[in-house]
Amino acid sequence: MQIANKKDVPELLDVRIEKMSNLGFGIAKYDGYVIFVSGACTGDFVKVRLNKKTKTYANAEVVEIIVPSEYRVEPFCKMQKVCGACQLQFVEYSAQLKLKKQMVEDAMQSVFDEEIEIRDVIPSKSDREYRHKIQYPVSETKDSKRILAGYYKPKSHELVNIKYCPIQPSACDEIVEFIRKCAKECYVSGYDENKHNGELRHIVLRVSKMTKQVLVTLVVNDKGISSKLKLLANKIYAELPNIAGVLVNLNSKRTNLILGDKTILLEGVEFVEEELCDKVFKIGAKTFFQVNPYTADDIFRYVKKYIAENFTKPSILDAYAGITAFGICMSDIASKVVSIEEEKASVELAKKIIEENKIENIELHCGDAGDFFADQTSTGRLFDITILDPPRKGCSQNSLDYAMKLTKSKIIYVSCNPSTLARDLKYLKEFGARVEYVQPFDMFPHTYHIENVAIIDLQTLQAD
Ligand SMILES: C[S@@+](CC[C@H](N)C(=O)[O-])C[C@H]1O[C@@H](n2cnc3c(N)ncnc32)[C@H](O)[C@@H]1O
Repeated sequence: MQIANKKDVPELLDVRIEKMSNLGFGIAKYDGYVIFVSGACTGDFVKVRLNKKTKTYANAEVVEIIVPSEYRVEPFCKMQKVCGACQLQFVEYSAQLKLKKQMVEDAMQSVFDEEIEIRDVIPSKSDREYRHKIQYPVSETKDSKRILAGYYKPKSHELVNIKYCPIQPSACDEIVEFIRKCAKECYVSGYDENKHNGELRHIVLRVSKMTKQVLVTLVVNDKGISSKLKLLANKIYAELPNIAGVLVNLNSKRTNLILGDKTILLEGVEFVEEELCDKVFKIGAKTFFQVNPYTADDIFRYVKKYIAENFTKPSILDAYAGITAFGICMSDIASKVVSIEEEKASVELAKKIIEENKIENIELHCGDAGDFFADQTSTGRLFDITILDPPRKGCSQNSLDYAMKLTKSKIIYVSCNPSTLARDLKYLKEFGARVEYVQPFDMFPHTYHIENVAIIDLQTLQAD
């Protein structure tokens, strides 16, 4: 098919949205030329203005909704359009689940010739107040020096001061408002990222659904802790209910990374406790822990049920383990769990959690997963099941090669990125592995993000 030349595509045009992209944009076509429309969903007929044109695609914004999609609803948050966090809030929740399933199907179709079974998305138990990790950038107003804390507008570093966020536990709004006021009273200034001056640069909250306690981390542009910061931490701990502890993280670098290397406990304890799959975990300021504990619990129970129904006391390798959440949840149905995680603090925390849960069949390792796989292969050690839960970039081919050598029966691949999951599944399949199916879970309602659990059978590969 002939595709329109970008010069021939008008700046303003009426289009029908055919489907959604993996980043939550509506996809429309003009004579085969692809247009990604922000704030539009499948079924919308909209007038759009193109704001960026490349040879193969354009980005556009909605100027007018001519005929709304049947999926459209009024967003429940007034800030939806200005705050970049909930891209899909204007889509009815059950329709979001259908659109997300289609996004996963599209990711698979883009690499596979044959069909991969994608199951219906399992919804989040709650689509409000589900986000239990909050990281607000902080700044201050130019003249009155009022402290601002919230999210950046889409594709910008312009801060939206968020007073109410319905996808976070409501206690977080009160805590952040208290910190805004109290920081100013304590003469703690807000950070200016252009000039790289000012003190408070982020507020990070970790909330427990089990205890309702909150761990507060104040990230400061400093190399030490000032007395005014100590006073602020003391006031937060003394005057607010349900604060487990207050920490200060020192981050004086010009960087987009939120947390610096050094974290100091000023008040209370340095973690909150959370229950998942009948086990109690500790979550610190830096600990990787799934942001939606309701869906995390569903995923852990789902994987555990799958393993219990298909194996008797298997040996399990938990790779990219974080605080070994999978391994700990699976420990009572496994003969042995071995975990590998590169972040030392997570491994140390895992050790504590394992002791407190009185678990005796877990072996922890700290290091790079690929290197660890290579070592284990050279010893001839084998596992019935390997759980892979890598970061968004997925696994390296080298790690996948070794994972296949180390695993007797199944790989359970947990992923928050459908594109890298599809790429890695294709790689495994080329070696004879069979993808049984992919089960998506809605860990992030109202955003375009989706978590997936893929079940991969390696017995076909062993038989070759
Ligand atoms: C998506 S998280 C999964 C954590 C855990 N499975 C959970 O559910 O809580 C990915 C983890 O992989 C770790 N990681 C990233 N690259 C790694 C590598 N090359 N080797 C080992 N661990 C790695 C990160 O520190 C992080 O804890």
